[in-house]
Amino acid sequence: MKAIEVKDITKKYGGLKVLRHLSLSIAPGERRAIIGPNGTGKTTLFNIITGVTKPDSGKIYVFGKNVTRLSPYHRARLGLARTFQRNNLFFNLSLLDNINLALQVNRSQLKAKDFLENWALYHRKNVKVKELSYGEQRQVELLLALVQSPRLMLLDEPTAGVSQGESRVITEMIQRLPREVTVVIIEHDMEVVFNLADRITVLNRGQVLYEGNREEVRTHPTVKDIYLGAAEEEDI
Ligand SMILES: Nc1ncnc2c1ncn2[C@@H]1O[C@H](COP(=O)(O)OP(=O)(O)OP(=O)(O)O)[C@@H](O)[C@H]1O
Ligand SMILES: [Mg+2]
Repeated sequence: MKAIEVKDITKKYGGLKVLRHLSLSIAPGERRAIIGPNGTGKTTLFNIITGVTKPDSGKIYVFGKNVTRLSPYHRARLGLARTFQRNNLFFNLSLLDNINLALQVNRSQLKAKDFLENWALYHRKNVKVKELSYGEQRQVELLLALVQSPRLMLLDEPTAGVSQGESRVITEMIQRLPREVTVVIIEHDMEVVFNLADRITVLNRGQVLYEGNREEVRTHPTVKDIYLGAAEEEDI
């Protein structure tokens, strides 16, 4: 059984074909990165997997269950959690209040104190989220997804806009997730991708251009040309 199976998904916005007969599958416990140029349909794919956007055609399976017609709420109950490309937090509330709210909404047995201690953010508990650094806010987003005790996490650019140091902290948090949690990450930062991913799917213009392990993606000539670019080639 796969954690996610996306079968022949097509999505158009007006005349724009955003996803074109896209299929992919992700094994339980895998760390999968999805990369590709801006506007290539990565976030749209997450929206379709989580159910906030309906595909024009195609099917989605989560842990073997056909969820194509299920609401985002029902998909979340199967253990599917996500973070967003931009922050999605209660900025005027403290970190502790944000966590407590999320614990309540999810009827979680976890204690906010233990949870924050475990993720090394307890010392910031009374700070309003708007006063946290951007990198800390991204960490909090990750925590709010974790509160749901997910089996499957979809992370949309979790390190976008953060400093290099904070990017490392976030990468380490993701590395610390239990292996039974399947993690799918959309990411532009190739250092993060190569640190985290078992396999990498390269999207281009709404289709899977290539899928392979780190080494295969690193050395694939077309992938290098269209995505990694000459400048990054030296860094990786
Ligand atoms: N609700 C919408 N209505 C109309 N067009 C949309 C909508 N959502 C996305 N698009 C368009 O679909 C295309 C794919 O967008 P998407 O956000 O999925 O790309 P992306 O790969 O996540 O890009 P980025 O790397 O910049 O985040 C873009 O051209 C975008 O403008
Ligand atoms: Mg996006």
